Amino acid sequence: MVFLLLEEARKRVEELRKEIRKHDYYYYVLDSPIITDAEYDALVRELVELEKQFPELVTPDSPTQRVGGEPLPEFQSVEHPVPLLSLANAFEPEELRDFDRRVRQLAGTDVDYVVEPKIDGLSVALTYENGIFVQGATRGDGYTGEDVTENLKMIRILPLVLPSAPRRLVVRGEAFMPKKAFARLNEERENSGEPPFANPRNAAAGSIRQLDPKVTASRTLGIYLYQILVIEGEEIKTQVEALEFLKKLGLPVQEHWCHCQNIEEVIEYCLEWTEKRHDLNYEIDGMVVKVNSLALQNSLGTTAKSPRWAIAYKFPAEQAVTRVRDIIVRVGRTGVLTPTAVLDPVQVGGVTVSRATLHNEDMIREKDIRIGDYVVVQRAGDVIPEVVRSLPERRTGEEKVFRMPEYCPVCGARVIRPEGEVAVRCTGIACPARLKEAILHFVSREAMDIEGIGPALVNQLVDRGLVKDPADLYYLRKEDLVGLERMGEKSATNLLQAIERSKNRGLARLIYALGIRYVGVRAAEILAERFGSIDALASASIEDLTGIPEIGPKIAASIVSFFREEQTKKVLEKLAKAGVKTKEEKAEAKAAEKPLAGKQFVLTGALSIPRKEAEKLIKELGGTVTSSVSRKTDYVVVGENPGRKYDQARQLGITLLDEKAFMELVEKSGRKEDREKEDFPG
Ligand code: IVH
Repeated sequence: MVFLLLEEARKRVEELRKEIRKHDYYYYVLDSPIITDAEYDALVRELVELEKQFPELVTPDSPTQRVGGEPLPEFQSVEHPVPLLSLANAFEPEELRDFDRRVRQLAGTDVDYVVEPKIDGLSVALTYENGIFVQGATRGDGYTGEDVTENLKMIRILPLVLPSAPRRLVVRGEAFMPKKAFARLNEERENSGEPPFANPRNAAAGSIRQLDPKVTASRTLGIYLYQILVIEGEEIKTQVEALEFLKKLGLPVQEHWCHCQNIEEVIEYCLEWTEKRHDLNYEIDGMVVKVNSLALQNSLGTTAKSPRWAIAYKFPAEQAVTRVRDIIVRVGRTGVLTPTAVLDPVQVGGVTVSRATLHNEDMIREKDIRIGDYVVVQRAGDVIPEVVRSLPERRTGEEKVFRMPEYCPVCGARVIRPEGEVAVRCTGIACPARLKEAILHFVSREAMDIEGIGPALVNQLVDRGLVKDPADLYYLRKEDLVGLERMGEKSATNLLQAIERSKNRGLARLIYALGIRYVGVRAAEILAERFGSIDALASASIEDLTGIPEIGPKIAASIVSFFREEQTKKVLEKLAKAGVKTKEEKAEAKAAEKPLAGKQFVLTGALSIPRKEAEKLIKELGGTVTSSVSRKTDYVVVGENPGRKYDQARQLGITLLDEKAFMELVEKSGRKEDREKEDFPG
């Protein structure tokens, strides 16, 4: 680290902050960054280091102050200094003329207005004291909101300090998610099986009402301010002045608004934006018409719910009717199957729509959408077309009910839909749709840890057909690699060595690397210890697996279905043949060492200790507990009033233990284990 003097550091810190703010602007406002993410990160890192070295240089407006504190247990409530009212709606130009008549009548004069796009986001109030951002709150019920200060700090275009500001300023505005960011977020959510947000407003609200500000920080959000609620130390007379003043302070204000001299100009501007609404990179659902004079606003006052001095002109919904030609299923890069409607092309809000996402099979069932149906489609959140509802009255009887396929349409592997989830996933380890992700996971640090394989290389390996499943990595030859982008002799040799080294990572990491749904690092370790080899794990039954305390039915089902696939078998064979270690000698021995290892128990009837307790005793000594009696069962423990399992056990000639005999067996086994532990301390 280079040590700087305080003064030098101060200069550099200021430079860095200016530079970072500039790039935030390019990235978040203009949506066109002029440096790479890595270059940006380097600037931030340098600033963080300097601030660590010179804590006295940390200021509340430093970009480093946006990294997100600890999650909150709950939001604090905040009382608004003035109520944050909502607006009455107008849907027709005539309703705007009615509004204008009422205003002029009460005012007794002609009235001029300000018209602004109505942002579809989350309404918030921000407080700046002596130019410092001290509090941000949601609208809540208009009187009391939630304190989301830390989350709002994560919005990068929001200044934390205003250079020349009034003593106190409370402003109202709208936080929102830009369209592109919304589309990206929903795609990610669908890929990872989470429900997508219905529209950018929900996405913005969901991102800000987050107890963990780090989640907010990970989302791209914008904000525009439009109303001064409280101001001390400055006099503002009109809405035009207010918007100009906020902008001069450095606060983000919408670029488009219009000062209109009469209601006909207002209507013209509203109609103009009805056409242009899609030109903005954020969602608007109407226009807000406000009386310009703040004094007049004041004297017009409010009704119970909304001010008499403003009204929202709502754009007509953009919907159209068309026919569903087919429902196809696409497989995302993480293996999630998404049903998609293929539509007769139709114009919706100036765009031709021929596909619409149906999200998942539950939604298709709920909305009862059939192949051949006439449906209403709309552009949700402006970007992703969606099917709103079907029109059953137009059915001919030829329509077909859609069923989710049981096999992946890309690779033919069985699909699974885990309990409690809406997403259906492909289980194929070599499925081309998810191959790149599968390989990146396979080589990742906690898995096989193959250094030197990143997304760029995986793209090339897969696109050139050099790697069709993760095992193929072990069959790469130098001549395959040399000639790939940024791959010379030397790096090819290094890479092959790294691949070679990964063969001995051990069973737990291999199990994790296979990317079996729900099998994380910890579960993989437990499985490795229990089964000792990949072959033993591959032939385990659901019961064998759920017999392990940490393994629940969901994980067990996922494991069994994974190993049943032909693709998996082929990949495992190839891995073993390449010399990848698939056994854990030590663990196998350890598991076998346990006194009840390999013994299967079934419990029936009431015991004097809780059943869970009895199961725990068995499992601790290496045994497994299953729920039904089979030829594989070794012991049936019989309590009071035993059930059918008792008869089955007798029929099969399985050893029966009453509670006393069971406890003796447990004690004997326990002593045996203790002795062995003493023999082999540690
Ligand atoms: S002015 C008392 N201006 O639309 C009037 N509102 O019900 C305060 N909105 O809850 C609202 N863009 O969250 C105003 N340029 C804008 C707006 C806007 C969006 C929201 C606001 C309000 C809702 C209307």
